[in-house]
Amino acid sequence: MYGENRIDDARRFIKAWMSDFIAHFAPRLYVKLTAQTGRGAADESAQQIADYFRKCFYEYFQVLNIAPVKIYDFLKDKRILEYGPGDITGIGLLMYAHGAEHVICVDRFPLVSMTQHNIDVLHNLMHGLSGEERLRAGQAFNEVGNPASGFASHSIKYMVRKSGLSGLVKDIDIIISRAVLEHVNDLGATFKDMHNALHDTGIAIHQVDLKSHGLHRKNPLDFLTWPPRAWSLMYGHKGVPNRWRVDKYRQVITEQGFKMVTLYPTALAEKTDMAAVRPYLAAPFRTISDEDLSWLGFWLVINKAETKSAYPSRP
Ligand SMILES: C[S@@+](CC[C@H](N)C(=O)[O-])C[C@H]1O[C@@H](n2cnc3c(N)ncnc32)[C@H](O)[C@@H]1O
Repeated sequence: MYGENRIDDARRFIKAWMSDFIAHFAPRLYVKLTAQTGRGAADESAQQIADYFRKCFYEYFQVLNIAPVKIYDFLKDKRILEYGPGDITGIGLLMYAHGAEHVICVDRFPLVSMTQHNIDVLHNLMHGLSGEERLRAGQAFNEVGNPASGFASHSIKYMVRKSGLSGLVKDIDIIISRAVLEHVNDLGATFKDMHNALHDTGIAIHQVDLKSHGLHRKNPLDFLTWPPRAWSLMYGHKGVPNRWRVDKYRQVITEQGFKMVTLYPTALAEKTDMAAVRPYLAAPFRTISDEDLSWLGFWLVINKAETKSAYPSRP
């Protein structure tokens, strides 16, 4: 826990603070030095990465309670916004192939790169499809069927914005993200951006990972003991977890006028870990209930409050 060993705290603080300097003033260099993909540092084959994207793609529709055979009808002519795609816009390609009119991806960091490995992943995704979906996947590229030629402007657009926000207004039908919201620096601003970007009948679906992302020491929750100022100086420009718990998400969802469709946990903390960390929690987390502290991830589906939900969703 923070405060138990001052020398260890100081050592960690100085190391993290110095690397945050690089992330702040030279974000491209930081991304290069840390070889970030958005999926962790594992050395995965093109097949494994493509399998990951296929799994993520189908999970969105499982949560929305849409059968695989209905996906094309559901996505047909829909405009999609994805926050934080990582280094490959693989989900964007699958969404486009399955009928979406257009996919816009926005990120705070310039992670997307067309390396041969990433091109192989796009090939794998395209060749894993058949029929109409395969044809559409091919048409997503500047040269039909050739991922190395890059995405055509009519299919997938990739934007890097310092704020990580799209700035779109009533332009989008479906917003998606996976393992992104726990990284955004201003959660309220991101939900406001979503509210602005969505049409009145739009929907947003997110998977959020509230774990420490390797930034804990002994207890998986002890990263919640660092004071906010120290955490921000150590990690403010690196896109590491903002540490907000599910109670903060409920608050910003209500503030932005969204209607909750679905919210359920994907992983829970051990009671013993929660009890051990409770006396040391930093100020923003001290009043959190045991139930909310236990959530280590969740699925969230929201829509605009002024409209009735058009999408059935898993309870
Ligand atoms: C853990 S990765 C997840 C990548 C991808 N969604 C996946 O599942 O593999 C987090 C992503 O969120 C992006 N990100 C971080 N802060 C962001 C922000 N404020 N707005 C948009 N994207 C952000 C990162 O650059 C990265 O692409």
